[in-house]
Amino acid sequence: MKMKIGVLSAGRDCAGINAALQWVVYSALDKDLVPMRGVMFEVWGIIDGWRGLIEIKPDKKEGMKRLVMPLDMDLVRTWDRSGGTRLGTSLVNPFDPKKDQSEAILENIKKLHLDALVVVSGIDNLGVAYKLFREGVKVVGIPKTIDKDLSETEYTLGFDSAVNSITQDIDRIRITAGSHSRIFVVETMGRKAGWLALEGGEATGAAIILIPEHDFVMERVAELLLNRKKAGHRYSIVLVSEGAKPRGMDMVLERRGQDGFGNYYLGGIGGFIAEQIEKMTEMEVRYVALRHLQRGGAPTAYDRRMGRKFGIGAVDMIANEDFGRMVAWKQGEVTTVPLKKALERLNLVDVEKLYNTKDYRSRDQTL
Ligand code: F6P
Repeated sequence: MKMKIGVLSAGRDCAGINAALQWVVYSALDKDLVPMRGVMFEVWGIIDGWRGLIEIKPDKKEGMKRLVMPLDMDLVRTWDRSGGTRLGTSLVNPFDPKKDQSEAILENIKKLHLDALVVVSGIDNLGVAYKLFREGVKVVGIPKTIDKDLSETEYTLGFDSAVNSITQDIDRIRITAGSHSRIFVVETMGRKAGWLALEGGEATGAAIILIPEHDFVMERVAELLLNRKKAGHRYSIVLVSEGAKPRGMDMVLERRGQDGFGNYYLGGIGGFIAEQIEKMTEMEVRYVALRHLQRGGAPTAYDRRMGRKFGIGAVDMIANEDFGRMVAWKQGEVTTVPLKKALERLNLVDVEKLYNTKDYRSRDQTL
């Protein structure tokens, strides 16, 4: 039997996607696996995610060239070591009630004769994948998001690279903070889940960690910093998720509007906190928002390995006709979970278990 697989990345980019793409291709085109699988695969890369699949004109040669390409082992050989996504991506929601473009996708999948679709994405776009599955498309998902907010998997591609990037940046900030005896407020991404700030804070020994799962009190932040100063600390790092907010206040928005999935553009809470600390403590404060630096850069070894495992896992799922599901990482093993289940809830920080709500830091920290 022959099967034509389409593969695309959707939503925001991150490190590790390319390793997954490379290993989808490597595994699918591995001739030695053909007798066992009983199927020969062809792999086509869709450019720019859903937008590519909407805009592609399979009847016209020109349209085809720009938005879809055959992937072979030679082409993808070095993809695993680069960040971002070599296929490009977009934030288009094909099921946006204001502009539903799902029909075009369904039609183009048919016209391209794609037998199965691998979607590398986070929760919003795996939601799209699931809707397409319900329309009859044979879909499998690969989880990626630096926020690690997708449930039913213990790992999402991009997270480790982002935490490493936060760690390296804070190592730099720490040097200048120490020289000048300053407070530094460092803002990470993390819309609803505080994993980046929490684990970045654990890796760097940040003095204060503020996460979206627990609203903080500004006066307590100031008090904790003054206590540290009294105890002889020259400087302090306050690590805050973009989605964290002071009790009784709304989240701070970077700019107006929402993306196609109704998400607001967050960012700027770090600036607000820095101003308040300066007012309340008269200490010298500086503010750095790490923003997209966390998403860029080369993937860590862990993200390359996980991309590899997820890529191979996704092709196995297709061979086993395990559709409407996502490859996942649970207890040190690759497994598969129904997309429907993964979409039911977000993976948020368990505050009771992992976060110290009195001193705003990781629960395991006593010093
Ligand atoms: O990948 C999710 C995320 O990292 C969020 O934490 C953040 O709010 C968002 O991406 C920002 O994305 P962009 O500015 O690229 O639209």
